[in-house]
Amino acid sequence: MRNGTAIDVKDLHFSYPDGTKVLTGVNLRIHTGESVAIVGPNGAGKSTLLLHFNGILTGSGDIRIFDMNLEKKNMKKIRQKVGIVFQNPDDQLFCPTVYEDIAFGPNNMQLSVMEVDSRVNEALTTLSISELKDKSAHHLSFGQRKRVAIATVLAMKSDILVFDEPSSNLDPITKRKLVKAINSIDATKVIVTQDLFLAAELCERAIIINHGEVVKDAKMQEILYDAQLLHENNLEFASRCKICVSKPK
Ligand SMILES: Nc1ncnc2c1ncn2[C@@H]1O[C@H](COP(=O)(O)OP(=O)(O)O)[C@@H](O)[C@H]1O
Ligand SMILES: [Mg+2]
Repeated sequence: MRNGTAIDVKDLHFSYPDGTKVLTGVNLRIHTGESVAIVGPNGAGKSTLLLHFNGILTGSGDIRIFDMNLEKKNMKKIRQKVGIVFQNPDDQLFCPTVYEDIAFGPNNMQLSVMEVDSRVNEALTTLSISELKDKSAHHLSFGQRKRVAIATVLAMKSDILVFDEPSSNLDPITKRKLVKAINSIDATKVIVTQDLFLAAELCERAIIINHGEVVKDAKMQEILYDAQLLHENNLEFASRCKICVSKPK
């Protein structure tokens, strides 16, 4: 599983049309079958970076997905290989019902009706949202919409899964189920999060992005216990909660 390269990014630069310079020379490589966390402060460029992995945004530099250059002629294949769960679920959900939202991707893959139905039901069960299947996503809470958005991508069974802040607004039990679900998926996984506890449960390696570039790429353990590195990048791992650190007498 770990022989090849799934995502290779070389010297990626990107500015938004309004002139905001966001990525200033990103280099990273993700191996096939790996789970890698991308962490860093707000506004560091994490979401912008992810949107390059299937060509939603295009900067200057080189990106390869498996053995394909990320360019127009390969885009259809690449979009089937890379599934992205956006940070904001409202960017992902547009059908009248949750069921149809989750079925949308598989339906476009020329699968049989039975296969689509089985994938939708599996994703609904994995995210514990079966009871929501006939509802409109517009009538759900943010956390519920987030789970539906994750389910839409799980049902695609892509080789590379990219999650942008998957645990934001999830309650602790749902978060635990999400960790279990993500850990059980056999795919290459990239998880953007500010939650280092989540990152530690899902990934062996972490890449810190700050000011649009990679400032550290190392084993999770090495990053989690480097207090100065975490501080410099607005990250936190050890608990600072007073009740946790002072035992009752
Ligand atoms: N559509 C856009 N137009 C202009 N600037 C944007 C746009 N989207 C994001 N930005 C800016 O790009 C920078 C990086 O944003 P983002 O990639 O969302 O960071 P992160 O995901 O690390 O919080 C921020 O300064 C943000 O304000
Ligand atoms: Mg973001």
